[in-house]
Amino acid sequence: MTTPAIELRGLRKSYGDKVVLDGIDLTVAAGTVTALLGPNGAGKTTTVHILSTLLRPSAGTALVHGFDTVRDPDGVRAVIGLTGQFSAVDGLLTGEENLLLMARLRHLGAKRGAARVTELLEQFDLADAARKPLATYSGGMRRRLDLAMTLVTAPRVIFLDEPTTGLDPRSRRTMWDIVRGLVANGTTVLLTTQNLEEADALANQIAVLDGGRIVAAGTPDELKRLVPGGHLRLRFTDAATLDSASRLFGDSTRDDAGLELTVPSDGGVGALRAVLDRLDAARLEVADLSIHTPDLDDVFLALTGTTAPSGQVNQKGMTP
Ligand SMILES: Nc1ncnc2c1ncn2[C@@H]1O[C@H](COP(=O)(O)OP(=O)(O)O)[C@@H](O)[C@H]1O
Ligand SMILES: [Mg+2]
Repeated sequence: MTTPAIELRGLRKSYGDKVVLDGIDLTVAAGTVTALLGPNGAGKTTTVHILSTLLRPSAGTALVHGFDTVRDPDGVRAVIGLTGQFSAVDGLLTGEENLLLMARLRHLGAKRGAARVTELLEQFDLADAARKPLATYSGGMRRRLDLAMTLVTAPRVIFLDEPTTGLDPRSRRTMWDIVRGLVANGTTVLLTTQNLEEADALANQIAVLDGGRIVAAGTPDELKRLVPGGHLRLRFTDAATLDSASRLFGDSTRDDAGLELTVPSDGGVGALRAVLDRLDAARLEVADLSIHTPDLDDVFLALTGTTAPSGQVNQKGMTP
């Protein structure tokens, strides 16, 4: 049995009467990506700050590679990298200067430091901007530099607190590629996100955090399986056809204004064929058809009773 990269047991944090973390249990295997997914105020940053020794838990334990964040903070700090704090970078210095400064702070030595900085500028697509002051960087470039700063000493575990919030789609993709690259090199990543697609795209394990509790955890596929949210959506050209079709499928939901019918389905080809066969047999013509397989939005809705945190609700209006 290898020691997990991260282990949280009964982790609690409160401020006075206000309970922010209400008993979090989570295990992250080394070399994997876990996404802590939750809306604003769920407790994501608090969890990351406890793990990175910036905050003390009120109860419970947080271990990083077996080091206790309270009893052995130095041990923890030696293996982690924390990003999402732009305070680490100086706007008047160039990107390269910022990185060299960090290399010096980490006692890398002039030669090794310079080599590492060149490597990071290349890896993070910042070579062209290396000699420009940070003040001229875009949001995506700053975010990448921030992460590069963290990686000067190649930590084994990296915490990314909402690494793509506020980024344009292209910068977001670049950040995803960077995360994938880190994991390919054996780094463990704990990232927080409000974005379901991001968690789905990057994580081996997703823990859904809501109101200081983990309301579900598992692989993206396991989470999706919890929720039978799949359906077929059929659109018809007139109300009479919609009417007949809705009588044909007893468990369907109809939208009279849109002339649409939503039929529960596992999203498979067999179910699709069965529905089409029944329509055919009844001589009902379909104008349009779409297949909706369950996604993390459905999971979030089912688990927390609220819609997805950042308003990315897909076709939710008609889900049965
Ligand atoms: N120092 C503090 N004192 C009181 N409440 C706090 C403090 N820090 C955070 N909180 C509260 O804890 C909850 C979780 O915050 P946070 O961990 O930042 O959530 P997230 O990162 O998921 O948005 C929020 O309701 C926030 O207002
Ligand atoms: Mg936060």
